[in-house]
Amino acid sequence: MSEPLLSLRDVTAEVDGVNESPSLIHRVSFDVTALKIVALVGGSGSGKTTTGLSILRLLPVALRITSGKILFHGEDLFALPGHRMRQIRGKDISMIFQEPLNALNPLLTIGQQINEVLICHMPLTAKQRRERVLELLNIVGMAEPQRVAQNYPHQLSGGMRQRAMIAQAIAANPQLMIADEPTSSLDVTLQAKIMDLFRELRRSLNLSILLITHDLGMVRHLADEVVVLQAGKIVEQGPVARVLESPRHQYTQQLISSVF
Ligand SMILES: Nc1ncnc2c1ncn2[C@@H]1O[C@H](COP(=O)(O)OP(=O)(O)OP(=O)(O)O)[C@@H](O)[C@H]1O
Ligand SMILES: [Mg+2]
Repeated sequence: MSEPLLSLRDVTAEVDGVNESPSLIHRVSFDVTALKIVALVGGSGSGKTTTGLSILRLLPVALRITSGKILFHGEDLFALPGHRMRQIRGKDISMIFQEPLNALNPLLTIGQQINEVLICHMPLTAKQRRERVLELLNIVGMAEPQRVAQNYPHQLSGGMRQRAMIAQAIAANPQLMIADEPTSSLDVTLQAKIMDLFRELRRSLNLSILLITHDLGMVRHLADEVVVLQAGKIVEQGPVARVLESPRHQYTQQLISSVF
């Protein structure tokens, strides 16, 4: 067994300052090992986004981690000073946010937004950054990188915006990408293309992916391991084939029977 890239250990998050409020996630523990795609699934409100945001210490101010540990290469992320966490965020671990408003800035071109990530995290000259922006847009399958780099988000289709967000997320060569419902706004054909892209990125960039989704079809086609959340608690986890073919928990069985 290789040492996990990311380990969550008994992570609990609660609404801050509310006594005896039920926890939003409760004692969540799982690992992401190198080069694996781990899916985090569960119904709406089960705590998937809360888990993803906890990893990057990006929970909204009203929410707080009250116990547990998150280790990245064995290093406790909660214990890191803010400046170190900012280095890791976007560089080693990137995130594609579920909320599109959090993701792309409507006032900046796609090229400018990718360039910002490069300025923060990569030791490149301005010329190298310009080239890298085009290279990244090419990697994510944009037909006309030159034009797209100069476009604002509203000038792109949904699928292209999704690709632009992925380009931004891989810009600094992260080891882990957290993708929160990366295809839920796309039609089936585009979903399949994004899944192909994820597979390709894992191979070409040695990327591990924490895939947050309610789409079990996507889990089946893409993920290696699956973690099932129900009301903030993990009810089942294991290899995708085992969990989808012989689910042990009734909630997993319900999730599966509601789609397949
Ligand atoms: N800022 C907040 N303040 C209070 N409660 C919140 C806040 N954000 C989320 N919650 C609650 O936390 C719980 C988990 O929400 P979360 O967004 O993590 O679920 P999710 O699994 O990502 O759902 P979805 O599939 O709809 O995206 C929900 O009960 C939600 O109402
Ligand atoms: Mg969510």
